Amino acid sequence: MTALDHWHPVLLARALRRRPVGVTLAGHPVALFRTASGAAAAVSDVCPHRRLKLSAGEVVGDVIRCKYHGWTFDGCGRGESPGTPKMTACTTSYDVREEHGLVWVRNRGSSAAFPAVEADGFLPICTLEHTIPAPLELAVDNFNEIEHSGTVHDTFGYDLDRMHEVRVKVDATPDSVVVTNAGPTKRLNRAFGWLLNVRRGDTFHDTWTTRFSPVHSVFDHWWTSPDGSREAMVRWRLYIFFVPQDARTTRIFSLTFAKSRYPGPAGGLRLVRWLFRREIDREIRADVAMLHHLADHDTGIEGLKLSRFDKVLGLTRERIDRVYRGGTTLRVLTG
Ligand code: FES
Ligand SMILES: [Fe+2]
Repeated sequence: MTALDHWHPVLLARALRRRPVGVTLAGHPVALFRTASGAAAAVSDVCPHRRLKLSAGEVVGDVIRCKYHGWTFDGCGRGESPGTPKMTACTTSYDVREEHGLVWVRNRGSSAAFPAVEADGFLPICTLEHTIPAPLELAVDNFNEIEHSGTVHDTFGYDLDRMHEVRVKVDATPDSVVVTNAGPTKRLNRAFGWLLNVRRGDTFHDTWTTRFSPVHSVFDHWWTSPDGSREAMVRWRLYIFFVPQDARTTRIFSLTFAKSRYPGPAGGLRLVRWLFRREIDREIRADVAMLHHLADHDTGIEGLKLSRFDKVLGLTRERIDRVYRGGTTLRVLTG
């Protein structure tokens, strides 16, 4: 398998309107457009005539029309040239789905399954996109290691002075890696701590599972009293999909859900959805800002002085290579 065989989210669905949009997936330019019926379609963003970006063109009915000489292509890649009507001019097209507020693509006819998103009992909070200035492996490393929460984050993470108390457990199957962490929470800002009912010294639980078709992690965040007898009022569930753009850039699409134990419809979460959305956005931006300081973009881990929090790095790399890339196919794109 190559990266493009897996279903990847490539655009927020609300960003695809009447004009085509160009995106890059693992180095491949893709033009997305919406046909007259509203269905999303995806073709190579390189016009087979003279390589203009099809995304610079416009949509006419059910086809995208190249801005240069007016050749048109439908969602299956079948093309027509107004100047040479008898010529066959096909281009690559992709399978497309719209789910969870995102547009997803994969190679036409691939057998990769669509990733499951399980959030029964949770309220959707937000769907966000961020651009990480790092190759896929380093973006995944950042979200699969909790030691940086002591310094980089404000809400989700552990007290730096008590980081040595955090318990870390790693389990792996051939297709997944599960990490379970528990330890003394960071001190939340007063309003947020009050709202969630998180007290100083409470235990923050952070458990995630990473799967590799496509590469994504699902995180559960919750707090309890140190003895486990009292749980805070809100639990969070966060899906993060890691989408390689090119050798130095990864886009991440996040789906955030929350569950509240407060009385009333959705536990009152609709009232604070804006606040939760802002918090998730702020926390991910903190990761992005930190990763701008990477000294280099080497994805190898040989020679690094790894900590007990970093055991997961080798496990995720193995699975990215085997499950996601099917060997070495795209190594060159991300190395
Ligand atoms: S380059 Fe697209 S029609 Fe000529
Ligand atoms: Fe982080």
